Amino acid sequence: MHVLSNLDPNGVPTKPREPTGTECWHTDKSYTPTPSFATLLYGIEVPAVGGETLFANMYAAYDALSIADQQRYDALTVVHSWEQSRLKSGSRPPSDEENRAAPPILHSMVRTHPATGRKAHYIGTHASHIEGMPIAEGRTLLNDLLGYATQDHFIIAHQWHKEDLLVWDNPSLLHRGATYNETREKRVLHRTDVRGGPTF
Ligand SMILES: [Fe+2]
Repeated sequence: MHVLSNLDPNGVPTKPREPTGTECWHTDKSYTPTPSFATLLYGIEVPAVGGETLFANMYAAYDALSIADQQRYDALTVVHSWEQSRLKSGSRPPSDEENRAAPPILHSMVRTHPATGRKAHYIGTHASHIEGMPIAEGRTLLNDLLGYATQDHFIIAHQWHKEDLLVWDNPSLLHRGATYNETREKRVLHRTDVRGGPTF
């Protein structure tokens, strides 16, 4: 279980020393061979204003594309990289040892959900570039697709209340934490993941 907290040892709200990347759209642990299937998040302390968890529906984003665009994306494979994700978010760069423990991993850009049979984009901030495409070109394509797929009409926001428990399906959603006043508001959440599930 992870504890997500902005409190210092005295319980005082404190801005984190380094960005965590949770404010960027992502799907949990897509940089691993067995990404999180479901994530559970429980609210211990929640801000009165801001700090919502936002979800973007990757089924809806895929379904709204033209057939030609769907087929184009269906054929692509994406390199997900923990190192690139940390560099993008401004976090401390991983050590060589950490990089060896979490090497880049390939996932199809569009995956068919094993439970629903529906197709969804599998992208987000851990997605580094596209296999077999020049890196800069792949990153532009990923950025454009992310912008498209996280438009307001694909998004819902969960405003936290104490003791809320969220459970979400990572293969069909991107999520991120909204900003809040980190030096005034307390935000403490407990998180755990359900790994694995059917391979796809
Ligand atoms: Fe997350």
